[in-house]
Amino acid sequence: MLGRRGLVRMIAGALALSALALGCGKKDGGANGDAAKQAESDPYWKVGSYLSLSGEETAFGVDSKEGIELAIDEINQAGGVKGKPIKILFEDNKSKPEEATNKVLQLIDRDEVIAVLGEVASSRSRAGGIVANRKKVPMITPSSTNPDVTKVGPYVFRACFTDDVQGRMGAQFIVSTLKKKKVGLLFASDDLYSSGLAKEFRDEVKRLGGEVVMEKSFLKKETNFTTYINELKSANPEMIYAPIYYTSMAPIARQAKAAGVPGSMFVGSDGWDADELLRDAAEELEGAYFTNHYAPDVPWPNSQAFVKKYKERYNRTPSSMAAQAYDAAKLLADAMSRAKEMTPDGIRQAIQETKGFQGATGTITIDAERNADKPVVIVQIKDKQFTYYATVNEKSAKQ
Ligand code: PHE
Repeated sequence: MLGRRGLVRMIAGALALSALALGCGKKDGGANGDAAKQAESDPYWKVGSYLSLSGEETAFGVDSKEGIELAIDEINQAGGVKGKPIKILFEDNKSKPEEATNKVLQLIDRDEVIAVLGEVASSRSRAGGIVANRKKVPMITPSSTNPDVTKVGPYVFRACFTDDVQGRMGAQFIVSTLKKKKVGLLFASDDLYSSGLAKEFRDEVKRLGGEVVMEKSFLKKETNFTTYINELKSANPEMIYAPIYYTSMAPIARQAKAAGVPGSMFVGSDGWDADELLRDAAEELEGAYFTNHYAPDVPWPNSQAFVKKYKERYNRTPSSMAAQAYDAAKLLADAMSRAKEMTPDGIRQAIQETKGFQGATGTITIDAERNADKPVVIVQIKDKQFTYYATVNEKSAKQ
């Protein structure tokens, strides 16, 4: 419940924010010029973040917001960047790409932010990235893995690996590590992320000498998957690759178990990583694996330090979205502290030059295509928990 003091504080906060928006007004000269002027006179550096804080994939947005807030508080407590704190303005895109477009436009035109953090789902990062790139304001997506996202242009970066790497890792894990050559494939045909991974996976399975014995696709809005599961089952695959968000994976796992397809036959992708999947289908998915950016028990000192701080503050285990958002915010602050000029262009250049950044999700180097070079982790659902299984990387996939 919101107490009286909380309410007063909230209203005061809202007034301060709208005064800020009004005070900045609209000026000519493009986002870079406006933001530069704003940045000099403000008592803080204004950064925007657009996330799915409501709607279908709320868990993605909420977890990311927590990771960003933890990072920014740490940065500000340690003196901020170049003597000023960072202020984050969060916007909710309701899990919709059209809203992502609007919110990024609003953050840049109205609030004159000098950089943008977001989104999680690739479809929304692509929509938001098109705007950020057109407005020449740097954007870092913490966790959108579809290759198209950063292809939008020179202002769009990511702090995670891409799905060409992730899809290959999934195929390699099934065919080379688990030694299962006959695989089934199940994915959402109308989702950029899911269909992109399906393609990468299919190509790599073939290259490795395996065979996709049956593939089935569905639309994101579907809730009954029994027919697809039965058709897959009839083709006798040894494993099923399901690069799908947790929202569809939970009902799929339950319906598969009822149809006699055990959870341990599934291998998934990072979209599985949400508490909700464990809440709704941990039992059904016991033994399943998925590729990911991190695991709460990954044996890396930086990850463990992050997990400890996150648990202290939020009283729960951080998901990979939280870890990645934490890293993206810290990576941005690191770039800002190295930037020769505190303008969107100066910050863009510094992000591009990031090398060996030590994050909670591993060491990150930004490559020429603005993607992150970093490790891939295999997670197993074991005793109803996301459990670290192994670290793999691009090099090991090619061997
Ligand atoms: N990689 C997913 C995408 O690009 C988003 C995601 C990241 C989901 C991490 C869960 C965990 O759409």
